[in-house]
Amino acid sequence: MTIQKMADLARVMMDRAHAPYSRFHVGSVLRGANGKLYGGCNVENAAYPQGLCAEATAIGTMVADGETRIVEILVMADGKELVTPCGGCRQRLREFADDSTPIHICDREGLRRTVTLGELLPLSFGPDHLNISRA
Ligand code: THU
Repeated sequence: MTIQKMADLARVMMDRAHAPYSRFHVGSVLRGANGKLYGGCNVENAAYPQGLCAEATAIGTMVADGETRIVEILVMADGKELVTPCGGCRQRLREFADDSTPIHICDREGLRRTVTLGELLPLSFGPDHLNISRA
């Protein structure tokens, strides 16, 4: 699967973001071990802390579809700075992905940089610490 297909979906997700407060639109796409793509966008709330990141909504969509293994991640947002998943979302992704899982950091124009989850969240705590074996 090419990054292009993931980026195309992420662009649609960015346009669907509900971000009237920050006006910062984020799209994220997860590729499950089943090969399917799961998109998410940030969903903000008038009670600010209740907002959801794009990665969190994509994870919810994936799990609700019955998939619990992420093999590739893409995050898309505009701006000068690279937009990587926030600290909380790094841990959320860790639940379903490995240190070696690639994360493609994109803007609307395309790929800017690829990193791994292990680079963003080194020495992480995960399901294995609680002796949970994943399917
Ligand atoms: N945001 C995401 O959805 N994902 C990220 O990786 C970084 C930040 C959202 C949260 C909030 O709705 C807006 O971007 C500004 O922080």
